[in-house]
Amino acid sequence: MEKIKRTKIVDLLKLTPQEEIVIVKGWVRSKRGNKNVNFIALNDGSTIHNIQVVVDLTKIDENILKSITTGACICVTGNLVASQGQGQSVEIIAVDILLYGEADPNEYPLQKKGHSLEFLREIAHLRPRTNTFGAVLRIRHAMAFAIHNYFNEKGFVYMHTPIITGSDCEGAGQMFQVTTLDLNNLTKTENGIDFSDDFFGKPTSLTVSGQLEGELGALALGGIYTFGPTFRAENSNTPRHLAEFWMIEPEVAFNEIDDNMDLAEDFLKYLIRYAIDNCKDDLDFLNQMWDKELIERLDFVVKNRFVRLTYTEGIEILKEAIAGGHKFEFPVEWGIDLQSEHERYLVEQHFKCPVILIDYPKDIKAFYMKQNDDGKTVRAMDVLFPKIGEIIGGSQREEDYKKLKNRILEMDIPMKDMWWYLDTRRFGSAPHSGFGLGFERLVLFVTGMTNIRDVIPFPRTPKNADF
Ligand code: 4AD
Ligand code: MG
Repeated sequence: MEKIKRTKIVDLLKLTPQEEIVIVKGWVRSKRGNKNVNFIALNDGSTIHNIQVVVDLTKIDENILKSITTGACICVTGNLVASQGQGQSVEIIAVDILLYGEADPNEYPLQKKGHSLEFLREIAHLRPRTNTFGAVLRIRHAMAFAIHNYFNEKGFVYMHTPIITGSDCEGAGQMFQVTTLDLNNLTKTENGIDFSDDFFGKPTSLTVSGQLEGELGALALGGIYTFGPTFRAENSNTPRHLAEFWMIEPEVAFNEIDDNMDLAEDFLKYLIRYAIDNCKDDLDFLNQMWDKELIERLDFVVKNRFVRLTYTEGIEILKEAIAGGHKFEFPVEWGIDLQSEHERYLVEQHFKCPVILIDYPKDIKAFYMKQNDDGKTVRAMDVLFPKIGEIIGGSQREEDYKKLKNRILEMDIPMKDMWWYLDTRRFGSAPHSGFGLGFERLVLFVTGMTNIRDVIPFPRTPKNADF
């Protein structure tokens, strides 16, 4: 006899009742019933929806039934029939049940009652089995897929930039060192620790960004993007910062700041539209459970043009707000690095739509940004989103060899780390621009979750690297 293959629940729920036997495998969400019949809600992760398994107690071994508790994993063979009850169109009448793995109800931490997100963070190894994390992780996957799709359709080359690096792209010095030296037994010289014995023969770190190498790619291939993990040892315990996060960094030769803004806006809208079109069940669930305005907010962002203005204009608006009685925790004056409260004021209260700010003071931005003629600002570009604040940071790059070199010297960046980067400005330099989209901030926005720890499977934050 031909072996029957397992059908995923997402596919079963699309089928019409049929004669043939089906096999479904998954984890028990709940079991209820009476002395004649049991109803098992089964989920296999392929969809937010469960399939109902109907068990005639005279037909299935009592011992197996006893072990079918919340969290247990089973294989059900049965008939797919039109459901008698409400809430589902089809259900399975069990013919046979195999128990793969039991889950002792006295110990299994995920019971049917809802759990707080804080509690679920402590059991990150099991939380993907909840409705909420199933939905978030499926949407996260859909976004990753859509990102590759978008750039592939546009002819960008996916470039793998190194994770171990000898240079500090953002110049913020917030890097995790990579070493094989025995920290209990370091050789010191007059200049400090002797790195000549270290694995790479010099100090190295985990990268904060793939941009510098991405620029090398753009100036050869035209348009590239990176999509990889990045690491920042900043001690920011906020709902929007991770020590390990994923970033997407497109870089495009011949693009100037306006092209860069157009690309960022088009890209974000494509991704959000993709979620609306392809993640309906999961979005409906999150909208109902966590954020009643989620889908409305997604629709709004897709349909409206992002407001574009300069940092200087933004500061003026914030000052007017203060004059009008609005209170910010942090002071506002030209030259400050905008705090999240400032960004969110512009987006949520003033413009009530996504905002792109450009032309920031050069002193609060990285060395590689194109210097404006005013001598004070650079051609930076931050995209600010409702409920998130900064979702994208980018700029047009300084393509002039002398100006870039001077800025590197001015900012005390070691030239020995930068010669290769500067070479692109010596040989066939060109205007070019790019940006970085924080992947988890995108997933935060699209899922309506409010803490970045809840949109990555295993978050790394200060004093936390469990699982
Ligand atoms: O603004 P950032 O620091 O820009 C760069 O790294 C540039 N090299 C990008 C480029 O031009 N190619 O970071 C880019 C984005 C931020 O806008 C934010 O969304 C995200 O990365 N991000 C973080 N996300 C989570 N946790 C952190 N600690 C983050 N730091 C930045
Ligand atoms: Mg930034």
